[in-house]
Amino acid sequence: MERLDKLIAAQGGANPLSRKEVKALIARGRVTVDGVPAKSAEQKVDPDAVVIAVDGVPLALKKNLYLLLHKPKGYVSSTDGGDGPTVLELVPRSLSRRNLFPAGRLDKDTTGLMLITDDGQLAHRILSPKRHVKKRYLVTLDVPPTEEMANRFAEGIALSDGICKPAELSITGEYTALVTLTEGRYHQIKRMFGCCGATVIGLHRVAMGNLSLPDDLPEGAVREATAEELAAIEERQ
Ligand code: URA
Repeated sequence: MERLDKLIAAQGGANPLSRKEVKALIARGRVTVDGVPAKSAEQKVDPDAVVIAVDGVPLALKKNLYLLLHKPKGYVSSTDGGDGPTVLELVPRSLSRRNLFPAGRLDKDTTGLMLITDDGQLAHRILSPKRHVKKRYLVTLDVPPTEEMANRFAEGIALSDGICKPAELSITGEYTALVTLTEGRYHQIKRMFGCCGATVIGLHRVAMGNLSLPDDLPEGAVREATAEELAAIEERQ
C-alpha cells in the first residue's frame, strides 16, 4: 500500500506534479479512487488494485520505471553531480520521475549500456555478485591483450580489496578484448588490466545479462526498457 499523494507525484510524465500540487488537487475533490473522491493525501492505496483518476481521467499507474541509457563519456553515474553532469540529466522530462538512480556505476569516461530505475530490489538483483548477472565490456588497451592475461582473469586477479571472481577475457583484435564480469568493483577492469601491466584506453559496456546494447539506442539516448529486455538483463546464461 502506498500514500496516494506520493504515488501520483511519483508518476512523472510530461507534466510531473509535485506532492504539493497533488495535495491541492485532492483537497479540491479532483482526484478519485475507484470513482470515489479521495478524502486525504495520506490515504493508503494499492496501486495494483485501484483506478485513480484526476478530473475523471484514469492514470496509467506504473509502479516502477526502467530506462535504458547509452551512456556517453563525460557523465557521472550518480544522483548528485559534483564531478560533472550526472547520467540523470540525460533522462528527458517526459520520462523523468523522482527517485530514479543508475543501477550500477560506469566510470565517467566509460560508455555503453546502463539501466536507470526507481526499483531498488531489481537493482540489487542485477548488481549482487551472488546473482552472477554478467556485464560485458569491449576494452581497448595500450598493448595487445594476451592469453596470459586471459588465464589470470580466469583464475581471479588479486586486487587491493580482495580477489576478483573469475572473469572471461577473449581477444577480439590487436588491441581489443571482450571482458565479462559478474561483479562491479570500483574501476575493476582498469585495475585488473593494471595488474597485468596494461592500461585501459577505452571501455564500452556492450551487454548486461543477455541484453546487448540495443541498435536503436544511439549514444546519449534514453528510452523505456521493454518487459523482454528487462527479463533478458536478469537472465544468467
Ligand atoms: N570497470 C572499470 O574499470 N570501469 C567501469 O566503468 C566499468 C568496469
